[in-house]
Amino acid sequence: MSQIWSPSRLTRLTRLTRLTRLTRLSSIVFNGLLFFQSALIVTGGAVRLTGSGLGCPTWPQCTGDSIKPIAHQAQGQLHAWIEFGNRLVAWIIFILAILAIFIVIKKFRERRDFKRLRALAVLQLLGFVGQVVLGGITVLTKLNPITVSAHFLLTIPLIAGALSLRNRIYQKSTTSISKKTTSALNVVLLLTILVLFVGTLVTGTGPHAGDIQAKRYHFGERNISFIHGGIVLILIAAILYLLIMIRTNEPKEVTNSFGQRALIFLFIALAQGAIGYIQYLTKLPEVLVAAHLVGATLIWVSAWGLYINADKADKKEFRKI
Ligand code: HEM
Repeated sequence: MSQIWSPSRLTRLTRLTRLTRLTRLSSIVFNGLLFFQSALIVTGGAVRLTGSGLGCPTWPQCTGDSIKPIAHQAQGQLHAWIEFGNRLVAWIIFILAILAIFIVIKKFRERRDFKRLRALAVLQLLGFVGQVVLGGITVLTKLNPITVSAHFLLTIPLIAGALSLRNRIYQKSTTSISKKTTSALNVVLLLTILVLFVGTLVTGTGPHAGDIQAKRYHFGERNISFIHGGIVLILIAAILYLLIMIRTNEPKEVTNSFGQRALIFLFIALAQGAIGYIQYLTKLPEVLVAAHLVGATLIWVSAWGLYINADKADKKEFRKI
């Protein structure tokens, strides 16, 4: 008995319990960051689609001198709470980013990629600061489309950073791909970013501004939707080309794993493209616009996931130099 409860055993047990707790916390924090960075796009969309953009008309307070909505607020309770909910998600990200930095420093100091992990965690915090500033400017400029677009586009590197951080923490394996496949993958990634960027211009031109009086871009709804949809077609062609490159240049293991991921990406892009065309032809019902936003988030997570899963040929050559 005395052997079981010897002081050294107890210390080891306490350390083990602490480590288990930290591991559990890590899982919540790193998965949580990815989840909430992605959710921010959807909650931001909910604000726009319900016309709650100025539900909290001041910043950083919601109204007057209250940080949260108050009873009988002029903007209405629903609008105020939807906008406040979006702000809350941003605060959750802040807490998770602080915890991520703490865990990286505490638990992963000995890792070879410690500096990279720390930089990724710090970027999540800086991204939060950027979002707070942009969110504030968005409210103060009464939903100017440039700041609304920028607000969306800032989530793109933040989601990418959260996914990279999570995959690095869990030391997810990567797949070696050839030069030709690497080139095709780079094109797919660039086109995906372009589609997302032009998508925000379509939104900034369209009717779902978040407030009736908000300014709009003057691209013309038809023209900008046409350009957006056109680039999507080029993207789909590029994904097909990537699949052909994988089939013709890579060994069977790569075709099975990486090829499978690329195929899933193709299906998501096709589904998202279909939602895009249907919402355009049915005059942008809110429910389809919301589905299109969820789709845009999924597209980006799977495009970036595919990109970082690849051990790229150009990177290997660069390392040799
Ligand atoms: C891979 C496929 C696609 C992706 C990743 C994508 C992505 C996006 C993004 C990121 C936005 C902006 C969301 C925001 O700022 O809140 C958007 C808006 C929009 N997209 Fe797409 N899109 C795709 C396909 C299409 C297609 C094929 C069409 C057909 C024309 C289309 C029509 C629209 C329209 C009309 C909007 C504006 C919706 C609004 O008023 O909020 N999309 N898209």
